[in-house]
Amino acid sequence: MKLEVFPSSIETSRELILRLVEIMKEEPGKVFNIAVSGGNTPALMFDLWANEYMDITPWNRMHIYWVDERCVPPDDSDSNYGMMRNLLLGLTPIPYENVFRIRGEAKPAKEALRYSELVRQQVPLKQGWPEFDIILLGAGDDGHTSSIFPGQENLLTSSSIYVVSTHPRNGQKRIAMTGYPILNARHVIFLITGKSKADIVEEICNSGDTGPAAYIAHHAQNVELFMDKGAALYIEDQ
Ligand code: 6PG
Repeated sequence: MKLEVFPSSIETSRELILRLVEIMKEEPGKVFNIAVSGGNTPALMFDLWANEYMDITPWNRMHIYWVDERCVPPDDSDSNYGMMRNLLLGLTPIPYENVFRIRGEAKPAKEALRYSELVRQQVPLKQGWPEFDIILLGAGDDGHTSSIFPGQENLLTSSSIYVVSTHPRNGQKRIAMTGYPILNARHVIFLITGKSKADIVEEICNSGDTGPAAYIAHHAQNVELFMDKGAALYIEDQ
């Protein structure tokens, strides 16, 4: 696990964008299958990307998927797709057909199946699982990642690519990528900012693999954690 710590959330977001562009430039001409997360944290990064890095990004080589989605329509303020469309995708030259959204407005179980099938068709398989080039994750202060919450660890070893999960506090249905496709990705990159995440970062880094985010961080290949000083508060040597 590689830890990258920057003074502020703005700098962390900028460095992450530069890292993503760097990864794509290492393989000129290749199309990158990238799965993104939602929640609040990536909003700043998407905004900066649209405003500062439009010209250096190979938009036509990016296929965008989602790690997870809330089961709400795309115009709902909770929609992970809607947030990224408004802040970033809608402002880029990325072709419409290269954006593969999870339909939050559809029946959850049916949509989890449809999207699993779509991903299976679109993303090259390695050992029977899709091999995304880059998966961007966040971590909740309770230790969840994707939309797999503590207590739902059985979903990490599901035989489906996507499943329906339920937010433990508000009961909202989510469609979530499961563990094996995340572990199969070439690059797994977490973006975690803010002091409210300091405890969970400490747990991810120091206490083994309890909880979904820690499990992924300890078992995936090429894991990078992009954090600001607040999130990395309890990590030594920062
Ligand atoms: C979601 C996410 C989720 C997110 C964490 C962190 O739909 O909520 O994709 O996995 O990464 O919940 O969310 P915050 O950035 O809002 O703290």
